Amino acid sequence: MDPNAPADPARPALPLTEVQAFAAADMAAVDALIRRRLASDVVLVNQVAEHIVAGGGKRLRPMLLLLATRALGHQGPDAHQLAAVVEFIHTSTLLHDDVVDESDLRRGRSTANAVFGNAASVLVGDFLYSRSFELMVELGSMPVQEILAGTTNRIAEGEVLQLLHVRNPDVDESAYLRVIERKTAILFAAATRLGALLAGGDEATQQRLHDYGLNLGIAFQIADDVLDYSADEAALGKHLGDDLAEGKMTLPLIHAMAHADDATRARLRTIVEQGDAGALDEAMAAIRASGGLEYSLDRAREYAAMAEAALDGLQDNEAVAALRGLVRHAVERSA
Ligand code: IPE
Ligand code: IPE
Ligand code: MG
Ligand code: MG
Repeated sequence: MDPNAPADPARPALPLTEVQAFAAADMAAVDALIRRRLASDVVLVNQVAEHIVAGGGKRLRPMLLLLATRALGHQGPDAHQLAAVVEFIHTSTLLHDDVVDESDLRRGRSTANAVFGNAASVLVGDFLYSRSFELMVELGSMPVQEILAGTTNRIAEGEVLQLLHVRNPDVDESAYLRVIERKTAILFAAATRLGALLAGGDEATQQRLHDYGLNLGIAFQIADDVLDYSADEAALGKHLGDDLAEGKMTLPLIHAMAHADDATRARLRTIVEQGDAGALDEAMAAIRASGGLEYSLDRAREYAAMAEAALDGLQDNEAVAALRGLVRHAVERSA
């Protein structure tokens, strides 16, 4: 297929508000489960976990899992529990990520590390990780355990790989893609594959939903990296420029570096090597001049189109239309 082809208008896709309405009852059940299963008799665990969970978040990954199951005609408490598992894993990675990235704003509020310190954030991140495995084991499915064990291991590799790349201006697009596939897209892929598995989908169907999630996850992370340079901070609920301050080479900057004149390139190299947060305006100007934001969004749209194409073999229904709607939203979103 032509990856630049626009989304097929003949394929129905729900707008975000309708996706949310369609998933609302399931998501309420997941939310109740998350809150119930966060509990610990160690007060600091509750405080830190409550702090990040009460901040909300889009709950995208559990929603994907539930929509994948419903796309195949399944619904039930096992899906709610597995959706909570996936959100716990995601939340634990955010607690760790904000320590590593030295971020102090998430979900429109101070990060847990800013409020409770790095040690508490790392340790409660570990609590959420292991709590997710308790919930998973209750389901008693070895295939589910295999998928999630592999997934969490790949995520950890992705984060370490990214750490190795910090302040390295020679990171190119393929190295960047290898990182985001592991740190972000693998969990999306696991969510949708697990949905298919729970619904009794055959291997080919599980693979389709895996491919959908993987490509959506890549598109989602590229869009996140564009938003880090271009969003409205209040809407995003995170500070702009965190990636640059961290010396993290993301796609907009990689593109600018490859297309800037020699003097600008040399300057950008220094900024990345120093993780120079004070040079955000300068870096933004170079990114804009190179068309780095448009280029990145075009790449995200290509992955989004591949995600949608992976759904083509499924029988169309409202849940499939919701999955298509989420892909389109992932790239065009402002938060
Ligand atoms: C943030 O994920 C981490 C990335 C993969 C970019 P989300 O944007 O889904 O975060 P929340 O859960 O909605 O806060
Ligand atoms: C995503 O990367 C982090 C994880 C997958 C854990 P980012 O560092 O870009 O995420 P944000 O921007 O802090 O949410
Ligand atoms: Mg981060
Ligand atoms: Mg980011």
